[in-house]
Amino acid sequence: MPSSVVTGAQWGDEGKGKIIDILSESSDYIIRYQGGNNAGHTVVIDGESFILHLIPSGILHKGKTCIIGNGVVVNPVALIDEIEKLNARGIKAGKNLLISEQAHIIFPYHWKMDELREIAKGRSKIGTTKRGIGPCYTDKVSRCGIRMADLLDVNIFSRKLKANLKEKNAILRNVYGFKGYSLATLSRQYMGYRKKIKGYIKDTTVIINKALDDKKRVLFEGAQGALLDVDFGTYPYVTSSNSTAGGACIGTGVGPSRIGKVIGVVKAYTTRVGEGPFPTEFSDKLMNIVRTKGKEFGATTGRPRRCGWFDALIVKHAVMVSGITEIVVTKLDVLDDLEKIKVCTGYTYRGKSFKTFPTNIEKLFKVKPQYEEWPGWMSDTSGVRSFNKLPRNAVGYLKRLSDLVGAKISMVSVGSERKQTLKL
Ligand code: IMP
Repeated sequence: MPSSVVTGAQWGDEGKGKIIDILSESSDYIIRYQGGNNAGHTVVIDGESFILHLIPSGILHKGKTCIIGNGVVVNPVALIDEIEKLNARGIKAGKNLLISEQAHIIFPYHWKMDELREIAKGRSKIGTTKRGIGPCYTDKVSRCGIRMADLLDVNIFSRKLKANLKEKNAILRNVYGFKGYSLATLSRQYMGYRKKIKGYIKDTTVIINKALDDKKRVLFEGAQGALLDVDFGTYPYVTSSNSTAGGACIGTGVGPSRIGKVIGVVKAYTTRVGEGPFPTEFSDKLMNIVRTKGKEFGATTGRPRRCGWFDALIVKHAVMVSGITEIVVTKLDVLDDLEKIKVCTGYTYRGKSFKTFPTNIEKLFKVKPQYEEWPGWMSDTSGVRSFNKLPRNAVGYLKRLSDLVGAKISMVSVGSERKQTLKL
């Protein structure tokens, strides 16, 4: 079947942008299925860096159709900024970019609510990106959201915005003491955005299904990772969408029988941004070494990422809930200088050991990781161009990860450039 899903198998930031860029070469359609501009996909081409928040990384290749699916929540300001920045760098985002008419639109009251809720939560905050993602999905599920199709009809748009503002302003003023937003100002702003994006808005579900009927090669691009999935992640320290592979069906309007491969992307170690449990998190010294070498700072917010050892339990969980058929291991080179490398193969909780990821968040906060220790390879892998040329200890480490998580490895990445990718 000519369709594949690329999904994160940890807490996001696994390096999906680069892998999608590589797989885009042999794809006709690249479709983002969930999340919003909370994501930041970095792609480096000949030393030039591109950070994409909403537009699929396939846009960097000529002749591809890129789609923002119905499962994505779209901030028009961020989208227009991204389109204009790409165009300014000579990358066309015109007829090759489509946005689902069913995608929900983010408004300033969403990101304000996100920010104020986080402040009100104090120490129990989630550590969101404050991009209004959660509040926008909340409106979608509450059936009061405003969609791209609404933007095309000025009367419907005004009616819905007025009704939303009545409720949102009351909450903002009475619960959070914030002054709220003016209908006239927001209407004017969004009518301005409408002019710039209306040409992109289409019934993308029909287009995607037709592409599959015509045997086109379709790549579904996930954002965030399985452990941030609103159902299967470390709830409530998650994002507000289904970032597991199943989200590709719901977020594009394609049935499960049309999905072929599911490619899970993992780092050779683990990172997460924001609050929440992280059993294998490093102590300060290793944290600084890996964070610096791996440039572990958020592509969207610039926040330093928390770093830790590879946790086979969380990836095994991701393999199960996303039905991952193969994994891609990224950033192997970041571990090049470490004498010893640990892998978490189980947890201990109240004297008992177990090998599966617990759904109980309180338990996850308290578990003690059980580690296996592997000798490092102590040599530079960033220049290696084939799997067979990797140091013996690196191959041993990768094989062990594959065995532990129950999925074969199809690619290994040893740097941010396209050429630093070893295909198996
Ligand atoms: P939200 O998606 O902004 O609501 O944030 C919820 C949680 O998901 C926070 O812990 C964020 O740091 C995390 N998160 C959201 N998007 C990303 C991402 O693209 N990479 C890594 N973490 C993310």
